[in-house]
Amino acid sequence: MTPASFLTLPASKPDPIFAAAKAAKAAGPQAINGTIGVYMDEDGKPMVFPSVRSALEDIAKELTRRSYSYPALTGLAEYRTSVHHLLFGDSAPLIASIASTGGTGGVSLNIRLAKLMDPAITLILPTPAWANHAPLCRSAGITTVEVPYLEDGLPSVRGVMDALQRTAGNCCVLLQVGCHNPLGLDLSTAQWNEVLAAMAKKRAIAILDFAYQGFGGTPDEDAAPVRLFAQSDVLTLITWSASKNHSIYSERTGLACAVVPDEKTRIEVEAHYSTLTRGIHSAAATFGQSVVARVQSTHRDQWLKDVAGAREMLEKKRAVLKETLPASFRKAIDGHGMFAMLPLSEEQVDRLATDEKVFMTRDGRINIAGIPLKRMEELAEKIQKCAR
Ligand SMILES: Cc1ncc(COP(=O)(O)O)c(C=O)c1O
Repeated sequence: MTPASFLTLPASKPDPIFAAAKAAKAAGPQAINGTIGVYMDEDGKPMVFPSVRSALEDIAKELTRRSYSYPALTGLAEYRTSVHHLLFGDSAPLIASIASTGGTGGVSLNIRLAKLMDPAITLILPTPAWANHAPLCRSAGITTVEVPYLEDGLPSVRGVMDALQRTAGNCCVLLQVGCHNPLGLDLSTAQWNEVLAAMAKKRAIAILDFAYQGFGGTPDEDAAPVRLFAQSDVLTLITWSASKNHSIYSERTGLACAVVPDEKTRIEVEAHYSTLTRGIHSAAATFGQSVVARVQSTHRDQWLKDVAGAREMLEKKRAVLKETLPASFRKAIDGHGMFAMLPLSEEQVDRLATDEKVFMTRDGRINIAGIPLKRMEELAEKIQKCAR
């Protein structure tokens, strides 16, 4: 190989979300940017929740007294305890956990843990999925089967159930809990129960990806599927992200955890999580972990108000879209959380970008949380103009 060998690299494929975000930024401040999943304030700036601001002020006074030595591979104990509490309330089951580099790192660790249990395991991925799920499966080298998540435009578990029946060996199923990305459309309680029963029968592993706790309902309400699985016989792995609900995207703070039957297994699973993270990038950074721990220990009441405020704002934005867009958009915007996948062709999305400076990914996925409430009617008008 010589320096010219770089030319033999396969063509790179930019991430569709980051590519659309770059185009939106280049279009200037008047652009309507519905690309990257960040919750913006009414001035179009990334929101920092008041509870998080308070925690940051507390931590700022302690910066020179913090330890800057290597952290434990599993992360800060006080952080993990506060996330366990967010996930399970006062009656947490026995949990093996590790702090991860964002929710992304958590998904990656849990996929790798499942593969460690059976290298030939098949991962069932309902699609459309979060744009990074398939790449994370590929990089973990796990056999992946994509199944439809929608039937007539509504969430369905039929695709997963059929794949569970069809697959000969061990399976794991990657399911999103709350505020589905990119659709905003979540499984009903009945569907969660249905898929849980089928997974119990097949002895499939659940990998639950929980990235928006508090943005669909209260944090406890949103955690209901996680708690349902934790109480069942299904081997349950959970990943959690602090990026959105603690507005610390840049601190890359998340958690991977497993519901375990006994203390011996807890120690063993944490040892495996530690080995897995060591083989990727060693321990996750700890600043974001300190922020979450401080918010939850000292500013929790304010945090509950902050996430309630975000939730209400998202519902208001959806209400404007429901009032102003034609009925054919109804199903797509009827969900919860930051995203919706609008029924637009790639050509219509391209026209929105070039003619109207409205940006989303080419599949029609729009981040409602990135667009100010005061511009929602304008957004709806522009969408209608280009959808004709
Ligand atoms: C469904 C889902 N899982 C995981 C993540 C990753 O979150 P993080 O930014 O904390 O890595 C996201 C982020 O957009 C997501 O939408």
